[in-house]
Amino acid sequence: MRKSVIAGNWKMYKLLGEAIETAVSLKPLVANATHCEVIIAPVFTALKTVCDRLEGSIIKVAAQDCSIEQKHGAHTGEIAADMIKDVGCSHIIVGHSERRQFYGETDETVNLKTKACLEVGLTAIVCIGEKLAEREAGEAEDIVKTQLLGALDSLTVTDMERIIIAYEPVWAIGTGQTATPEQAQEMHAFIRKTLAETQGKEIAEATRIVYGGSVKPDNIKGLMNNADIDGALVGGASLEAESFAKIVNYK
Ligand code: 13P
Repeated sequence: MRKSVIAGNWKMYKLLGEAIETAVSLKPLVANATHCEVIIAPVFTALKTVCDRLEGSIIKVAAQDCSIEQKHGAHTGEIAADMIKDVGCSHIIVGHSERRQFYGETDETVNLKTKACLEVGLTAIVCIGEKLAEREAGEAEDIVKTQLLGALDSLTVTDMERIIIAYEPVWAIGTGQTATPEQAQEMHAFIRKTLAETQGKEIAEATRIVYGGSVKPDNIKGLMNNADIDGALVGGASLEAESFAKIVNYK
């Protein structure tokens, strides 16, 4: 049985005080959510304080990115996975489409960041997903497969235990145009089939594949009803504690 994951990506929103306020408000609202793992991903500057304020809660904390360098050192402006672990995080989001689109992230850097994350013992939430033009050209599966294999290149069976795949079609991110549950299920099944072919059936069955792209309180249930959708990576609707809690407590 795969345990569902509902993660909120706060992107570059929230000053420190706002991040604390949302995290603290969320705590009691999701306290009984034992059916899934609950994760929030604040900006770097809020990670330490949010981790401290959530101590003893079921909410886990993720960073939104990390350096390709595994350990701290002379890399001005970068933040290494060991530093993210040091402040209390358990997860790192890697390869988000905004990083691929606007910050030159490639399948290779996503692979290196994934390895850096795993190396220090954290779980990587690896984002993949096609653009609208690619879907319209019938290339969605090819793109997703290339990104998936690129991100997971040379990972071991044990590494795979700490991988969560986030399928986030770029055309559905922040647009209000969510993939239909059928479209999402179809791609998730394809991702699982690809994992079975490349990593083995057992790993494919155990790996959580979550959906991201305009997930809201009113569409989460329809998405979660599908066999291969194991959770959600939520952007906009995770910024308010009440709305994110509704998504977490979708059952
Ligand atoms: P939205 O939920 O705002 O579409 O964002 C999705 C996303 O990018 C999560 O990582």
